[in-house]
Amino acid sequence: MAVDLLLGLQWGDEGKGKIVDVLTSNYNIIARFQGGPNAGHTLVFNGKKHVLHTIPSGIFHDEATNLVGNGVVIDPVIFKKELDKLEEQNVDYRKSLLISRKAHIILPTHRLLDAASEASKGKAKIGSTLKGIGPTYMDKTGRNGIRVGDLELADWKERYRKLANKHESMIAFYDVDIEYDLAEEEERFFEAVEVLKSLTFIDSEEYVFQAQKNNKTILAEGAQGSLLDIDFGTYPFVTSSNTTAAGACTGLGVAPNKIGDVFGIFKAYTTRVGSGPFPTELFDDDGATMAKVGHEFGATTGRPRRCGWLDLVALKYACQVNGVTQLMMMKGDVLSGFKTLKVCTAYKYKGDTIKHLPYNIEPENVTPIYTDFEGWSEDLTSMSEASQLPEALNKYIAFLEKELETPITIVSVGPDRKQTIFRN
Ligand code: IMP
Repeated sequence: MAVDLLLGLQWGDEGKGKIVDVLTSNYNIIARFQGGPNAGHTLVFNGKKHVLHTIPSGIFHDEATNLVGNGVVIDPVIFKKELDKLEEQNVDYRKSLLISRKAHIILPTHRLLDAASEASKGKAKIGSTLKGIGPTYMDKTGRNGIRVGDLELADWKERYRKLANKHESMIAFYDVDIEYDLAEEEERFFEAVEVLKSLTFIDSEEYVFQAQKNNKTILAEGAQGSLLDIDFGTYPFVTSSNTTAAGACTGLGVAPNKIGDVFGIFKAYTTRVGSGPFPTELFDDDGATMAKVGHEFGATTGRPRRCGWLDLVALKYACQVNGVTQLMMMKGDVLSGFKTLKVCTAYKYKGDTIKHLPYNIEPENVTPIYTDFEGWSEDLTSMSEASQLPEALNKYIAFLEKELETPITIVSVGPDRKQTIFRN
């Protein structure tokens, strides 16, 4: 059975968690394949909001198995907090949560290194979530990392100490003031590692292979967004993993010819948290309205998100890189009340009009060219059928489908599971 993928097509925070939760009943296994606790996947059901960082968004469904794949980086302290929250909700995760032995561990010193690196950059800050993501992936590619499977080895604490000592000398190398009490952080870390070790560690690529052979349905859940991809994103203002479709192959061990549907999730407008270029960013009342109505604050850091019009040039690029087969449009309800909507359909780039994402999209190189659309005033949040959607929204959707050559099969009109409109 082919593995379906679900990915964010913008700079993250598209609403992936909600859609995974909505689709989980169609799947036996939900698997995360990259990223770590820099992610914040928000799910709302039965009047309650749940935020997951590392644990797959299928965890609230009794029938689904949830796999943390080899491409993920795990902070045991944050992971333990997530488990504690699940316990409070009486979610029985022990049987349904599996962890790849090949996933890498975020050490307390990785977080400190992240902070030191960011502080040393001054104005050129990436705006990292400071969860230690970059330094952990650096140790992975540098072949120095500690993996989940290492925790089962008798000498893992010696390995830990060696790496942590090296990190401490690296922190000292940065000429910045980082205050920390490593002994205290380590106490929490070692306690959390014991909790992690009480869970089920597996050879996940074999598990995924056998599951496919046995016709189990698998949904791979992406984190962050395509424009934060280490290769295809707005480098260096990106995260440190492959957030695009190829990441599911390396982050789970799925062969490229075993990928089925690729669900691309995007907001009806655009947001970005952290630094980096954002051609359609708004600094006026329209941007402020999107931020206010859309509650645009980061689920992990609480930072305000930058808001702007939909960028079709960037969206098309993301569809291409990922091979998107179905689109899902989120937060359409937030655009209710705008008299005119704008969609960026091309860029003015060094005197030319171009329709592809160039190497450099810094404001001095790129000016967005917009197409205007009539807005709608209807409140969408209580709508449940495609036939109820206002005509102006249908025109907006039809234009996007035509330009992206891909059907929009879900329109989300609010954060709750129930506020989801399926289109044929
Ligand atoms: P890092 O992955 O924490 O190092 O952050 C690198 C960049 O990616 C920063 O601009 C973050 O704000 C952004 N980022 C990381 N994870 C997410 C996410 O889940 N949603 C949105 N932005 C993210």
